[in-house]
Amino acid sequence: MNADSRADAKPLALLVLGAGRGTRLSATEETPPKVLVECLGVPLIEHVRRAVGALAPSRTVVVTGHKAEVVDEWLGANWPEATPVLQRPQLGTGHAVRLALDAIPDFEGDVVVVYGDVPQLAPADLERLLHRHRVDGAAASVLTGVTDEPGSLGRILRYEDGRFCRIVEAKDAADRPEILQIKEFNSGIYVFDAAALRPAVGALKRDNAQGEEYVTDAVRLIADQGGRVALVVAQNPEALRGVNDWSELAAAYGLLRRRIAGGHMSRGVTIVDPDTTVIEADVQIEAGARILPFTYIERGCRVGKGAVVGPYARLRGKAVLEASAQIGNFVEVKNSHIGEGAKAKHLTYLGDADVGDGANVGCGVITANYDGTHKHRTDIGKAASIGSGTVLVAPVTVGEGGTTGANAVVTAGKDVPAGATVVGVPARVIREVGESEPAHEETAG
Ligand code: UD1
Ligand code: CA
Repeated sequence: MNADSRADAKPLALLVLGAGRGTRLSATEETPPKVLVECLGVPLIEHVRRAVGALAPSRTVVVTGHKAEVVDEWLGANWPEATPVLQRPQLGTGHAVRLALDAIPDFEGDVVVVYGDVPQLAPADLERLLHRHRVDGAAASVLTGVTDEPGSLGRILRYEDGRFCRIVEAKDAADRPEILQIKEFNSGIYVFDAAALRPAVGALKRDNAQGEEYVTDAVRLIADQGGRVALVVAQNPEALRGVNDWSELAAAYGLLRRRIAGGHMSRGVTIVDPDTTVIEADVQIEAGARILPFTYIERGCRVGKGAVVGPYARLRGKAVLEASAQIGNFVEVKNSHIGEGAKAKHLTYLGDADVGDGANVGCGVITANYDGTHKHRTDIGKAASIGSGTVLVAPVTVGEGGTTGANAVVTAGKDVPAGATVVGVPARVIREVGESEPAHEETAG
C-alpha cells in the first residue's frame, strides 16, 4: 500500500452549511428557503449534493435554520444519508460547524465543509482540495479563488513565502485598503482534520464586525498552533460563488447551463447554440440528436438519437422523443411520448399524448387535455395524419393511419377509427377505412 491509498482510506465527514435565511432570495413566507430555490430544475442544495457525491462521505450533516422543517422534509426524501442539525439562532459559520461536529461526536478523520448555496461547485476542485490536504498531511485546507473583484468576500492573507497567515472578512477590513485590494478570496470550502477542528471551533470568539463566530478564525487558530494549512486555488473562481441574490442566481444558472450543455455535446449531441438553449438537469439526450436554438428542455425529458428539437421548442413533464422524431418551432410537448420518426413541426401543443411512430401532426394542432378538473390523454396512432388546426379533445384516440381534416374538432370519446378520415366541428367520419369515395355528407340543419 502506498502513502496515497493509505491516506484515502481515512474516514470522511461532510458538513453542509445551509442555515442562512437568504433574505434576498427567500423574502416572503411562500418562497422556499434559499437552499431549496431551484436552478435548472433542481434546488441549489441538490447541485451541491451532486458535486460532493464522489467524495462518498461516511457521515453527512446538513445545518439548517431558516424554514428548517421544509429543508428537513426535502433531505428526508432526497438525501436520506444526511443528518439535519438545527442551528437557531445563527451565530455564524463557525457556530454552524461547531453544532454540526457536535452531531458526530465520535467522528475522527477528514471533515469537508461546504455551503448549501454554492451550486456551481466543481467536483474537480473538491477532489484537488482533498488530495492536497491528504498529501500535505494538512490540519486545515482552504479552497481559494482569484478575481479582480472579490467584493464582500473574505480575503486570504499569506506570508511572503506564500504560507497561510489568516482570512480577513471584507466587513472587518473596511478601513484597510491594503487588505481589500487582495485578489485572493476564501471560497468557504475547507477540509479539516477533525482532531484539529474540534478544539478550534470550541475556542471561537465573536469579536468582529458581525458579532459572529467565524469558521475562518478556526483556520487561523489551527495555523497559529503550528497546524499545517494548505491553500488550493480553484481553476474557475466563478464556480465558487455563493448565491445570495437574484443576479447571483442568474450567474449560477448561466454557468450550470453551459456546463450541462457541454456535457451533452461531449457525448455527441449537437447543440447549435448553447447560449440560447436551456437544458435542465437530468435530461437524457442520445448522441446524434440535434437541438436547435431557443429550445427549452426541462428536467426528466428524454430525446432519442437522430431526433431534432427546435428552434423555439419546449419539452417538459418528462416528455420522451423516440429516435428521429422531429419537434419544430413553437411546439410544446408535455408528459407525452413521441414515437420514432413522428413529427410535429409548427405551433402545436401536445400534452398528455402518445404519438405513434411515423405520425404527422400538422401546424397548429392542440390536444385539449384539461377539462377544468382533470387531465386526460390523447392517443394518436402510428402513421396517423393530424390536419392543421385540429383540436383533439381528450380523452380521445385517433386510430392507426387515421386522418383529421384541417380545423377538425374531435370531441372526447369520439375516437377516430383506424384508417378513417374525419372532418368538421365536431368532427364526423367522411370515409371509413377501405372506402374510396367520401361518405355522403349530411347537411347540417
Ligand atoms: C463566508 C466566509 C467568507 C467567504 C464567503 C464565501 C466566514 C466568516 N466568512 O462569508 O470568508 O469569502 O463565505 O462565500 O465564514 N451559515 C449558517 N449558519 C450561520 C451563518 C452562515 O449555516 O450562522 C451558512 C449560510 O447559510 C451560507 C454559508 O453559511 O450558506 C455562508 O454564510 P454567509 O453568511 O453568507 O457567509 P459570508 O458572509 O458570505
Ligand atoms: Ca454568502
